[in-house]
Amino acid sequence: MPEYTMRDGRGKEVPVVEEDGIVYFKSQMIRLSGRSLRKQIDGVTNMTVRDDDILIAAYPKAGTHWTWEIVTMLVKGQADYEIKAKESAMLDYRSVEEIESIQSPRVLNTHYPSRLIPKGIIKKRCKIIHVQRNIKDVAVSYYHHCKEFYVPEDMTFSDFLPLMTGKDNKGKRIHYSWFDYVKEWEIYARDHLELDILNLYYEDMHMDSVGEVKKLSRFLGYDYPDAFLEEVADKCSFRKLQKANTDFKQDPTKRESGTSIMYRKGQVGDWKNWFTVAENEYIDSLYRERMTNTI
Ligand code: A3P
Repeated sequence: MPEYTMRDGRGKEVPVVEEDGIVYFKSQMIRLSGRSLRKQIDGVTNMTVRDDDILIAAYPKAGTHWTWEIVTMLVKGQADYEIKAKESAMLDYRSVEEIESIQSPRVLNTHYPSRLIPKGIIKKRCKIIHVQRNIKDVAVSYYHHCKEFYVPEDMTFSDFLPLMTGKDNKGKRIHYSWFDYVKEWEIYARDHLELDILNLYYEDMHMDSVGEVKKLSRFLGYDYPDAFLEEVADKCSFRKLQKANTDFKQDPTKRESGTSIMYRKGQVGDWKNWFTVAENEYIDSLYRERMTNTI
């Protein structure tokens, strides 16, 4: 497993581990409970898939928790919070045995790129929900996430950004290139027309949560009354999920004080409070360069 250091925006070295194109902060490895990243990836790609598995795929910080809570309520047919948090069904960190022990129907979730999702998902034609969010808000959200777990407390957003974009790091970037992630999913969907893949956008969920919950429900093949779908959207609003998470959910990522890390601000456009003009222009230029010929 190659280990090397990346440089943050102030030139400080940040130790990372890379496997199969996935780059983790070295401090992140603790979440694998002693398994190597290789073993984890192999476990995920070769895991036993069930006919009724549902997979939520999203780049980190794109709205995975939100989507998982909605889908879990739809699957149960009840607008009640699940005590377990979405981490309990997260392929990237859970062991094969833990994933095996989940009762069907499972709402699995992963931040892995399309080429590393379980092979059985294709064979069994499971439904896939791909959640996307503007790269700039993802970057801000990811920065706060990493500050809670993996990077020094005094790292600023400007220090962090090159770790995500790969600037001055010979193209190496933390987790996976956001651009490659999005483009590869697009190609995957095009190459697997036999699969049911729904593209959801964080910004749409924000603008019309009821409409997006209805869309999800239809996609999953349910025919629930509007009142139920409206209740699901309401129970999964940012404030209500934040409170549920703090009050009783078994979220292993909670702060010692019990407050939630995963429900930070829940807004569209918070990036405007964090990006300098130069950083914004840089991301825009990267976007133009990397996302041409995409949908
Ligand atoms: P912010 O850090 O911008 O607040 P993920 O679940 O993929 O880790 O994504 C986390 C992001 O989704 C966080 O963004 C979090 O606040 C936001 N989020 C979670 N639930 C939400 C909801 N119900 N409405 C809006 N945003 C939500």
